[in-house]
Amino acid sequence: MRILGLESSCDETAAAVVEDGTVVRSSVIRSQESLHAAYGGIVPELASRAHAESIDVVVRGALDQAACTLADCAAIAVTTAPGLLGALLVGLSAAKGLAVASGLPLVPVNHLEAHVAAALLGDSPAAFPLVGMVVSGGHTVLFDSRSPIDHRMLGATTDDAAGEAFDKAAALLGLGYPGGPHIQRAAAGGDPTAFDLPRSLLGRESLDFSFSGLKTALLYAVQGRTDGRHRPTATDLAPQRVADLAASFQAAVVGVCVEKARRALARTGHRALVVSGGVACNGPLRAAMQTLCEAEGVTLHLPAPALCTDNAAMVAALGYHRFLAGHTASLDVDANPRPVRNRRWKQRGA
Ligand code: KG4
Ligand code: ZN
Repeated sequence: MRILGLESSCDETAAAVVEDGTVVRSSVIRSQESLHAAYGGIVPELASRAHAESIDVVVRGALDQAACTLADCAAIAVTTAPGLLGALLVGLSAAKGLAVASGLPLVPVNHLEAHVAAALLGDSPAAFPLVGMVVSGGHTVLFDSRSPIDHRMLGATTDDAAGEAFDKAAALLGLGYPGGPHIQRAAAGGDPTAFDLPRSLLGRESLDFSFSGLKTALLYAVQGRTDGRHRPTATDLAPQRVADLAASFQAAVVGVCVEKARRALARTGHRALVVSGGVACNGPLRAAMQTLCEAEGVTLHLPAPALCTDNAAMVAALGYHRFLAGHTASLDVDANPRPVRNRRWKQRGA
């Protein structure tokens, strides 16, 4: 059974064809990274316009690469929440048009749940129940995931998302956008113990995250001791200091994520962990999660980097399970920019 997936919640326009929820027949992604880089962050209006220019192209590309037509698909899955409203509406409107034209059912998909579903793609799909950790530019969430379509929120960030923290840290250090890959590259030549940056754990039991204190501490470390007249910025930093700051910052984020994953595994008793979202591309984070799971005897699922960042294959994978469960929608289904989809998500720690 083939599902066509569409994704346009943030700054990637993507379409994919996935078979039986696991086999990626095609995955086409048009990134807007270079469009937004000049602004140091995503400009919503530009994102919507770029999605509108690309959505037809990626859908055509995904069908061509999979050597199929809409008639060979069973349903059209599309991200309806969370994300930038104007961006979401481009993908949703396109999906509605395709559904009308083809008579195929429409399956609305939650973007955060889709990041967890990325672990279903490929040769060794994740088995549920599991702990799902989504660390991306817009969200940082821990799920108690009972099935591909049953997720209960254990914790979330109280301020910045992990990726957002990487992006802001990179800006403070005079590195490029998006920040994660730049920080990782700079950190490779640095000492992660050079600066003692705070790792906010929010108490012994908490499964929530906070990265704003770390960001402020990094700002003070960049400025160093100031004479009151000259306030140092990134341009005053020696390359080795940048590397040491990047490494210390990265180690702090990784340390927090690993500790939260450990707590979530202990809380739920689950024996499998999925780490997904753009920050899950981070090499030291992947290595540290591997070490954690080996020590805990837990199965770790780390989707390939191209499936960790935004893509439509994960949307189609989740769409397959939602379609089988009968979760189709009528054509008046709306987009929702907020992350919380239903009451179950609000039952934190349930
Ligand atoms: O999942 P994603 O593509 O988009 C959202 O749904 O937000 O995540 C993008 C985020 C950006 O903040 C980027 O800096 C971060 O993922 N990221 C990384 C790495 N690659 C991407 N963060 C740390 N290390 C990386 N190697
Ligand atoms: Zn995402």
